[in-house]
Amino acid sequence: TDKVGPRHFLDLKDLDAATLRQILDVARSMKTMQQNRRFPLHPRRPLAGRMLGIILSKPSTRTRVSFEVGIRQLGGDAIILSPGEMQLGRGETIADTGRVLSRFVDALVLRTGKTDSLQTLAKWSSVPVINGLTPSSHPVQILADILTFEEHRGPVKGKTFAWTGDGNNVLTSLIEGAVRFGFALRAATPADMRPAQDVLDWAKAQGGDVQWTDDPKAAVHKADCVVTDTWISMSDSDDEAAARIAKLAPYQVNTELMALAAADALFMHCLPAHIGEEVTQDVFEGPHSVVFDEAENRLHAQKGILAWAMGGADWASFGKE
Ligand code: CP
Ligand code: NVA
Repeated sequence: TDKVGPRHFLDLKDLDAATLRQILDVARSMKTMQQNRRFPLHPRRPLAGRMLGIILSKPSTRTRVSFEVGIRQLGGDAIILSPGEMQLGRGETIADTGRVLSRFVDALVLRTGKTDSLQTLAKWSSVPVINGLTPSSHPVQILADILTFEEHRGPVKGKTFAWTGDGNNVLTSLIEGAVRFGFALRAATPADMRPAQDVLDWAKAQGGDVQWTDDPKAAVHKADCVVTDTWISMSDSDDEAAARIAKLAPYQVNTELMALAAADALFMHCLPAHIGEEVTQDVFEGPHSVVFDEAENRLHAQKGILAWAMGGADWASFGKE
């Protein structure tokens, strides 16, 4: 049939490269417009009257605030929903929750501890569903990271990123981003913390330049950007924390490791950071670090995603006054 479903933003691999690039172009234009006007609200309030439901099953600082502020800057509004305060917490299904909320709001963001829940919500919602982090992926973070890299160093295409640490949700989305945006990625993790084989296979099938190693020095060698994340994600059990920290210690980003990267390499971390674990204080606060620019760009990248998901046929015009 010709029926076109809602514009879900579930994973970078679900969108084509041209659409992802256009989302970032619109994001960058809106950011420039905002900075030039020295006024945060979009001059046309293109999402006036539109409501975003933000469902958070896990804690959040950046995702929550950047989506809420972002929709408001576009003229819309947001409500924050926590499953513990909803019937979802008493066993109402995600399918029914999605069908009901779709009658009230114009798009949903979901942060969940169960990857399946995101797929189920998207299946049953008649409004766009945006992935605000699952144990498997964090695509909105990676769009912000690419925006940040390009602001500092120009086009990401042909550059080399290195990841060192846990093979987690953020790495999975970085792999998908490498394929869609055309940069190389060298990921170093312990062998039993490798990124999921299906995403590595997918990257290879797509012709992506993505390589796994267990050697952080090999991964970081001459890289244009070094990326890491916490060693204990929200989906990891606290019982394993000590063992994980011990195993991941050789993967720490410190001055010695950073010195192996390109002289002008950037350091990125999605935050929150654990100083003395995945990164040392000197790198986190040092000249390579752009971690707070990344955090800021969550707002701008996600306004591009909101434009695409909620803006209808005219969404690309959000980049213009
Ligand atoms: N990086 C990130 O998603 O942060 P929050 O957990 O604070 O949303
Ligand atoms: N990998 C981390 C990212 C937090 C934004 C987690 O899933 O907890």
